Amino acid sequence: MKETTTWVVADPDQEDMFWPSEAMKQRAWMSDPSIYEESDKDPVAFWEKLAREGLHWYKEWDTAYNEAPPYFTWFQGGRLNASYNCLDRHVKTWRRNKVAIIGVREPIDEPAQSLTYYDLYREVNKFANVLKSLGVGRGDRVSIYLPMIPEAQIAMLACARLGAPHSVVFSAFAPDSLRSRIEDAGSKVLITCDGYYRRGRPVNLKNNADDAVEGTTIEDVIVFRRTGQEVNWVEDRDHWWHELMAEADPYCEPEVMDSEETLYILYTSGTTGKPKGVIHTTGGHMVQAHWTTLWDFDLHDEDVFWCTADIGWVTGHTYNVYGPLSVGATQIFFEGAPDFPDRSRVWQIVENHGVTVFYTAPTLIRMFAGWGDEWLKKHDLSGLRLLATVGEPINREAWMWFFNKVGGGRCPVIDTWWQTETGGTLINALPGIGPFIPTVAGRSFPGTRHEILDEQGNPLGVGEGGLLVQKSPFGPGMLRGVYGDPEMYKDNYWTEYGDRTYYTGDGARLFIEDNFRITGRVDDVMKVAGHRLSSAEVENAVCGHPQVAECAVVAAPHDIKGTTPYAFVRLSEGEPSEELAKEIITHVVKALGPTCRPEKILFADALPRTRSGKIMRRILQRLVSDEPIGDTVTIENPESVDTLKALVGYRDKS
Ligand code: WTA
Repeated sequence: MKETTTWVVADPDQEDMFWPSEAMKQRAWMSDPSIYEESDKDPVAFWEKLAREGLHWYKEWDTAYNEAPPYFTWFQGGRLNASYNCLDRHVKTWRRNKVAIIGVREPIDEPAQSLTYYDLYREVNKFANVLKSLGVGRGDRVSIYLPMIPEAQIAMLACARLGAPHSVVFSAFAPDSLRSRIEDAGSKVLITCDGYYRRGRPVNLKNNADDAVEGTTIEDVIVFRRTGQEVNWVEDRDHWWHELMAEADPYCEPEVMDSEETLYILYTSGTTGKPKGVIHTTGGHMVQAHWTTLWDFDLHDEDVFWCTADIGWVTGHTYNVYGPLSVGATQIFFEGAPDFPDRSRVWQIVENHGVTVFYTAPTLIRMFAGWGDEWLKKHDLSGLRLLATVGEPINREAWMWFFNKVGGGRCPVIDTWWQTETGGTLINALPGIGPFIPTVAGRSFPGTRHEILDEQGNPLGVGEGGLLVQKSPFGPGMLRGVYGDPEMYKDNYWTEYGDRTYYTGDGARLFIEDNFRITGRVDDVMKVAGHRLSSAEVENAVCGHPQVAECAVVAAPHDIKGTTPYAFVRLSEGEPSEELAKEIITHVVKALGPTCRPEKILFADALPRTRSGKIMRRILQRLVSDEPIGDTVTIENPESVDTLKALVGYRDKS
């Protein structure tokens, strides 16, 4: 019968609604829909049960949940260690020799590096001792600037073993971005490498690191040798990873951490020009990482999980490190680019390494679809049984292509909504419960509550668009603050609707009861190819060019990337030219890295502003999105809008 051989079935009454088959339900860790009501009756008791069942605690907590708005705690008084949970407990079981990480290299002639749980355990213990020998201890911050090589996970887990919060910085960020994150965190050690491979060529990373650390709090730099290329060397400050490891003792006792002690800081872009150091704590993060990994991706011991996110973003933290390792899964960790040496690379990896669960971003799916089906057809993808997405809204075409072409119409597509701040997924369908609906993320994860509010804070029903919020009790994996900046924490998340309602910054609507469709950011945060960028940060970089008087950066729609930055620029001197536009773009890339590259520079004599002189980004946003401009009475210089309409080729969609 069809039901036993395929993982999903279509709803005959609803063209676009899919449900798990009996086989999927039987296989799934969670297939009982009553979990939603049950967990909602007493979310704290629910999370306590999960915490007990999912993790190893040296001591149970005194207080499961406490709220002192806008702060809250989970499992306070409970003691655990994240690296113990990811490693030690597995090496005491048959999983000791199970493969934990398959490090797939960029150069095709270099074999993949498989690390078993025991291999990883040994490396992490030794590296924790290396850090210790440099004076790193509990509470010390360590910055990590590494590409997609397993040493990134080793470094993170070694920090966790010592109770030293890590701050991982995306390897494509420019030296200035690394520097400001090092300075804000006050890190004393930086872990980096000589370089890495990108489309067959070695890229130097150490030079960037050198530029970034000068004059900061960094005392020691540990350099992993990946490419063997020439690097600059600062005696006494720089150390080769392999030399230190050769001397290191094989075992390091894990620190016994309080649940509420910081596991890591991760910088993310907000609405201001300054990145925020989002704080995640040990117990809450581990509980959320563990259970969302198990239930969302339905990982079993025979699965091979591949999350394509970079380690520099939160998805890389939760679903390339703490989640999959906590549940004892096998995962792929891929160094390279999806189109090298050709556009079938990803599918070749899926086939060759037997990937069963594939988690990626809508941007990549749109790119794959645009490349054409021939690349998929070269490979056997029949091993896949679950697909998932994250990072930005997915359009219907991309969802259906992913479902039909990659998943062969068998695999549920789990569209997970979450943020750096939430630490783990929060809104998505569960594979054993469903439904799976294109463009609809799904339900609040059991034990959490979300609502859609209008601007006055009234809850909205099915069909009405509003702002997505989270209600108390907040998920255990939620951020506990912004490093060194309590005001920013309050202003960003707890002023819009008061200090008991977490404001996400996303617009959403209920598609059907309990099922959320997320429509995207409503603030000045941009999602470009799934990467989170701040308009203000890019503006600061554009304005750093000596000929720019002022500028405004907005997210314009883009077929593949979802949105892309357009910079409106007024010059202080010189004439607009293509050359100058290129120069400004190069300037931004140098300051922030290629991820923040503006797609277009639009030179304007005047930008729309309020009476008080503030540039009205909202109007520019509508101009580049072909949306109705709306009321212009509050614009001091409405004539500027007509000029800009011509400049951007505005076509009112309404
Ligand atoms: C967006 C990434 C629609 C959203 C984990 C959110 C999504 C921001 C989805 C956080 C989704 C993430 N559907 N939008 N499934 N997932 N987003 O911090 O705008 O890099 O606020 O975390 O990504 O981005 P961040």
